[in-house]
Amino acid sequence: MSFDFVNRPRRLRENKILRDMISENSLSVHDLIFPVFVSSDNSGSNEISSMPGIFRWSLDALEDQMPKWLELGIRSFAIFPCVAESKKDDLGSEILNSKALSYQAADLIKSKWDNTLLVADIALDPYTKNGHDGILDEQGCIANDQTVEILAKASVLAAESGYDLVAPSDMMDGRVSIIRKYLDSSNFYNVGIMAYSAKFCSAYYGPFREAIGSSTARPIDKSTYQLNPANKNEAERELILDAAEGADILMIKPAEPYLDIIMQAKNHHCLPVAAYQVSGEYSRLWAASSFGWLDLDECAKESLLSIKRAGADLILTYFAERIAPQL
Ligand code: PBG
Repeated sequence: MSFDFVNRPRRLRENKILRDMISENSLSVHDLIFPVFVSSDNSGSNEISSMPGIFRWSLDALEDQMPKWLELGIRSFAIFPCVAESKKDDLGSEILNSKALSYQAADLIKSKWDNTLLVADIALDPYTKNGHDGILDEQGCIANDQTVEILAKASVLAAESGYDLVAPSDMMDGRVSIIRKYLDSSNFYNVGIMAYSAKFCSAYYGPFREAIGSSTARPIDKSTYQLNPANKNEAERELILDAAEGADILMIKPAEPYLDIIMQAKNHHCLPVAAYQVSGEYSRLWAASSFGWLDLDECAKESLLSIKRAGADLILTYFAERIAPQL
């Protein structure tokens, strides 16, 4: 029997070729940025226990590994340093050492593989003893403007070492404008700023803090600078300010729990939108798949696709290496 329905949307789903033709979004390895952890110990590669398949690389090991990633079509990398405890202090001084690990890594990669895009993480947390993204004043409060000045100087060092984009992940007020000013006054007009504009105070950063060896002894509270997960208007305000201050790309982070913010950024601004699928988003899928409860590859692709569908032009994802051969 059949009813005389006028609309039968399933008609368009019957044939795989047609399904492919009317697919509204797709994933490409060209949209992905692979976050890479580098470490100063000469111990090769060390897997991060809360992030299976993701390693901290010594510079030697990184040099051996790079061709394998490039072979997969991965061309963009965001570098995160795991700084030795002995180099950390209250002011994060190591970030202003032009020979610091993060700058060495860029120098190494660019000297051998010029055809890459490198993104520098600009924040103090890998360098401060307490794991905060800013330095503290005498009252123990984050000293916003002093932190901004350090980050602006660090951005120039990052540009000198070969980074194409600097990505301030600190959430201090006004940092994009001062970073732009410092870069320009050093003639780095073409080094762009990918601003972590709407970075939420999220519990999904846990595995990352283990990865960079940032203070995990006690939970760290970043709620005086990172956004309240409840707030959409406040996120919009940050996006507006970063765009006005000269950001070239607006980033939302985490990604999948904040698809509404990604969509808002895409709809309200005419800048490219990046989304960072953070460590906890990676680890939760891994954990469930290790119990046999979820299919890791399918869930990873679905998650990345949902982030694109929401409006992200580019995605930072720890799945880049795993997913690239399937795209
Ligand atoms: C800090 C920084 C964080 C991440 C990137 N840069 C963590 C934090 O704010 O504590 C998190 C990335 C991830 O979880 O994958 N500047």
